Amino acid sequence: MSTHNVWTHKGTFLLAAVGSAVGLGNLWRFPYLAGENGGGAFILIYALTIFAVGIPILIAEIMLGRNSRRSPIMGMRFLTRTHKTSRGWESIGWLGAASAFIILSFYSVIAGWAIHYTGKMLTGSLEGADAETIAAGFDALLASPPLLTLYHTLFIGASALIVGLGIHRGIENGLRILMPALFVILMVVLVYAAAIGDLQGAADFLFTFHLADLSLEGWLEAMGQSFFTLSLGMGAIMAYGAYMSGEASLTRTAFTIAVVDTAVAMIAGLAIFALVFGAGLDPAEGPGLMFITLPLAFAEMPGGALLGGVFFVLVLGAAISSSISLIEPVAAFLVERFDLTRPQAVSAMVVASWALGLLTVFSFNLMAEGTVFHSLFGRSAFGLLELLTNIFMPLGGLLIALFAGWALTHGEVMKEMRTNETWFSVWRFLVRFVAPAAVAFVFLRTIPQVEGYWIPTIGAVVIVGAFAAGRTFLAERQES
Ligand code: TRP
Repeated sequence: MSTHNVWTHKGTFLLAAVGSAVGLGNLWRFPYLAGENGGGAFILIYALTIFAVGIPILIAEIMLGRNSRRSPIMGMRFLTRTHKTSRGWESIGWLGAASAFIILSFYSVIAGWAIHYTGKMLTGSLEGADAETIAAGFDALLASPPLLTLYHTLFIGASALIVGLGIHRGIENGLRILMPALFVILMVVLVYAAAIGDLQGAADFLFTFHLADLSLEGWLEAMGQSFFTLSLGMGAIMAYGAYMSGEASLTRTAFTIAVVDTAVAMIAGLAIFALVFGAGLDPAEGPGLMFITLPLAFAEMPGGALLGGVFFVLVLGAAISSSISLIEPVAAFLVERFDLTRPQAVSAMVVASWALGLLTVFSFNLMAEGTVFHSLFGRSAFGLLELLTNIFMPLGGLLIALFAGWALTHGEVMKEMRTNETWFSVWRFLVRFVAPAAVAFVFLRTIPQVEGYWIPTIGAVVIVGAFAAGRTFLAERQES
């Protein structure tokens, strides 16, 4: 079956993983979170987490994929068998599939907004518009279920088409054109933003560290964002890793993914804030930063329509290279497990995720604040789905770190990592202890009423983690 394939080129895994990592998280979420949480201090915590926790888990996740050469669910089933550990670890695969499915459903709706703005920009219909007009335009978009559904359908359909063509004809070829193009566009946007915006102001904002600016909430947001942006904890990287050549260096690849992903977030942040400050706008607008503040900056600048159009094409491309990596693990599972053809598997996954996406569509209108659903659950359906993935994603990362850290043998890890004992020990210490502790800390944020619940939560996480770790450890002992 095509799922046991290896990428045609040695470098494709890197391309695919960067494509997965770089997405709305870098261009939309990172800038607004940094803007809301005081800039520099946020970035410091974000970068520290990327390097101390993100990279070790990234290595662990690729390792599980490449070692099993199967989709995440079947791969974990295989690994629990070969390592005589509890079948419970299979939950890594199931959690991943569930998160990928849910994330795709709302990721596609939000990416769809970028389709709308690409059109608005390129037709010049926002040129010279004032703040009220642009804010009203965004509200009108969110208020329209048909329009949102249309964009959602277009976006998810395009992603499905690419994955449906297979990992070589679809994903590999698509990324080989898309990724270099995105890089060029990002550079164009940066140069233009530097020329007409306030680059110095943006740099001061992003790189001046006032730790005092950072609240606990901001600290947790920074850690959560570093998981999200690396696509960690949900099998996407594992699925791609299953196709990775056995020769490519795991450590170097993981490092490169993290560096490129971080660089893109910083460059996008610089460009966006240069434009925002240049137009005298507010950096702390929140989720509307990209869809209200930025269009306003584009509306006021010479050549803004074209630059804005180009920018939203960048957003769309980055989003699609991420969404295909959300489809792949589930589709590959359906192919392996039920012998479906690839188009059948992709359709099944995407149609179901599309339907779930309608809940996100309605969250901004029919089920918005003040409606029955909202008062029943205290949040929108979109908020609920987001909360769920905020729990699943770190949980998946935690289990991946524990499994790779405790269940894989020294020999297996060395075979994958091909590094010296010192680096091996550093990595293993990080995945066994530091990453689980950090993830437990991030969990704080996902508990709706953080105050009062965090001690039992950490306690429960630590107990479950220790139990699971101990169990695999014993199994490993019996084996040797
Ligand atoms: N990393 C993606 C981004 O920054 C979003 C994302 C999170 C993701 N988890 C994922 C993408 C898993 C693919 C697979 O936009």
